[in-house]
Amino acid sequence: MLPLYSFFSFCLVAVNSVQAQYIPTDTQALTIKEIEHYYLDAATNGFFSAITPCTNYQDPTAPAPDNTLGMQTAAEWIRTAFHDFVTGSIFTGLGGLDASIGFETGRRENVGAAFNDALLFFSFFYNAQVSMADLIALGVVTSVANCGGPKVPMKVGRVDATAAGPSGVPEPETSISDTLNEFNTAGFNDGDTVTLTACGHSMGGVHRNIFPQVVPASAIGPNNADGRVPFDETVAVFDVTTVNDYVHWTGAKGGPLVTTTNKTVQSDLRLYTYDNNQTITQLSQSSAYFQSQCQGVMQRMIELVPYSVRLSAPIDPTTTTNLKPAAIYLSVDWKGNMALSGFMRYVQVAGAAAPPGTLKITLIGRNGQTTAISATGTMSASDTGTGIWGPTRSYPFTLSFPATTGLGGISVSGQTFSFQDTMFVVPGMSNFSPTPPTFSTTSSLNTVSTYTVNITVAYLTTAPPASLTATFNIPVPQAGTVSPTISTSTTATLQKIGTVGPFTIFSVITSKSLSAKQVYGTSVDVAAPGQAAGVKFFKPFNKAA
Ligand code: HEM
Ligand SMILES: *[C@@H]1O[C@H](CO)[C@@H](O)[C@H](O)[C@H]1NC(C)=O
Ligand SMILES: *[C@@H]1O[C@H](CO)[C@@H](O)[C@H](O)[C@H]1NC(C)=O
Ligand SMILES: *[C@@H]1O[C@H](CO)[C@@H](O)[C@H](O)[C@H]1NC(C)=O
Repeated sequence: MLPLYSFFSFCLVAVNSVQAQYIPTDTQALTIKEIEHYYLDAATNGFFSAITPCTNYQDPTAPAPDNTLGMQTAAEWIRTAFHDFVTGSIFTGLGGLDASIGFETGRRENVGAAFNDALLFFSFFYNAQVSMADLIALGVVTSVANCGGPKVPMKVGRVDATAAGPSGVPEPETSISDTLNEFNTAGFNDGDTVTLTACGHSMGGVHRNIFPQVVPASAIGPNNADGRVPFDETVAVFDVTTVNDYVHWTGAKGGPLVTTTNKTVQSDLRLYTYDNNQTITQLSQSSAYFQSQCQGVMQRMIELVPYSVRLSAPIDPTTTTNLKPAAIYLSVDWKGNMALSGFMRYVQVAGAAAPPGTLKITLIGRNGQTTAISATGTMSASDTGTGIWGPTRSYPFTLSFPATTGLGGISVSGQTFSFQDTMFVVPGMSNFSPTPPTFSTTSSLNTVSTYTVNITVAYLTTAPPASLTATFNIPVPQAGTVSPTISTSTTATLQKIGTVGPFTIFSVITSKSLSAKQVYGTSVDVAAPGQAAGVKFFKPFNKAA
């Protein structure tokens, strides 16, 4: 998979600028927009960088990948989801995929670097709209699909736990009855448990340095400092090989948790033989069958969430997301000219029509009526990147219109996208300094500086309040886990600085000491006194979005 360099650099053009947004009451739409970017755009330094190629190991505290350890990021992400989810309960409706694993890494059942590796990498993508639990789910979806497996549906809306959950993750020593009971409580019957474990054990392996009771010291060798014995011959491919090896007793014969000479820790053998090899033999019937079964159980794994959590529809470019606005900015100047700029993203999924050379973007006014005002978005010639769904194309455009007409949405190729101009940050009147270091998913973003930001907001109102309040959502360290949380303790008061057309303009300048990593994860909500946020999830120090 090639990174979409051009897409990313296009976004960087707007780095000192700000974004318009979908109707702010639908905060899940903002989360979807963020996850779409991580999932579909495959940007340099993006979410896929740690798992490309699938053999890669990226310690997020190190400056570069290290492939001499016998470790593998894609496998770590899948194991992280397993350890996080399996202590959840369908009976109590608590736990599941909630990032509680971060508070639980001191437990013997969670031995290994995998969990903090994953959470630290994901924390570069964490913000007020994107929970760590959604990022753990995205880790499963991306590593499975990127490495030859099925496309597990990606829904958003998971909520992070604020403390450790119950223990009980099965270990190689755990009895078969305790193991099955743990999975049953998480909603997986005995056959499902075999399937999920066999699917999970398609990538990666068992490491001598943390499981010496399973793997002999002889496993340590050149480019295998941690002494990994893989589950199968295709350690970086999500495929049926480990299952076939076990059933036909070939190759790695199902891996170290089957073949280890220490009977106490033959957990995969105990599990697979529990139903006389029935489920595992069925899984080996064909590659397609294996993949479809894995898709189902992996989806159920990442969708075990507390009863109180409402997940979105899947992000699926074959349906609604193959044509969508991205990185949209709304502006107004002192003369009353408004502009909506950004681009349309077209994902050319398998079997879809070739991307059109141009798209016509038509303005829907504030009153909801389609106008005669339109702009042409021309496919960016340098867009050649391909993500897991296919090539992603971008169509930059700018729609210009008077403030009296205003913005209600746009229509493109028969689809309508709603926006609001009730309250928005005005890019041309807002700025920040200094420019933070280039976004990268390494520790280089830890440098702290004092960042000064001017936030200027246009508010469509006939009765302007004396001031508006901006609340900063800043990722901050959280005791007991490497996962950050959001602090909302910084606020700023915007004062009236003028009017233009139907808008009153409010502005503030404020400073804050932040690491570059925090800067990239920070967003701001702006509201009139006593009202719900009119601007939600504005990124004052916008990275590509
Ligand atoms: C019966 C339950 C299970 C037990 C006892 C078990 C045990 C283990 C052990 C001991 C390791 C070695 C970890 C290391 O050395 O780094 C491992 C690796 C792994 N497990 Fe499991 N596992 C179970 C089920 C699952 C499930 C349900 C999944 C996911 C769906 C899963 C995914 C993985 C992955 C991807 C690895 C490779 C990690 C890496 O290479 O870093 N496991 N498992
Ligand atoms: C076998 O595994 C058990 C359980 O972890 C451990 O106590 C024992 O020392 C292991 N035996 C050998 C020979 O490694
Ligand atoms: C299950 O499969 C394993 C590995 O192929 C084999 O050694 C074992 O005898 C089988 N057990 C049963 C009960 O079929
Ligand atoms: C922010 O910048 C704009 C545009 O330069 C300016 O008009 C405004 O007064 C500034 N805000 C404050 C609070 O100084």
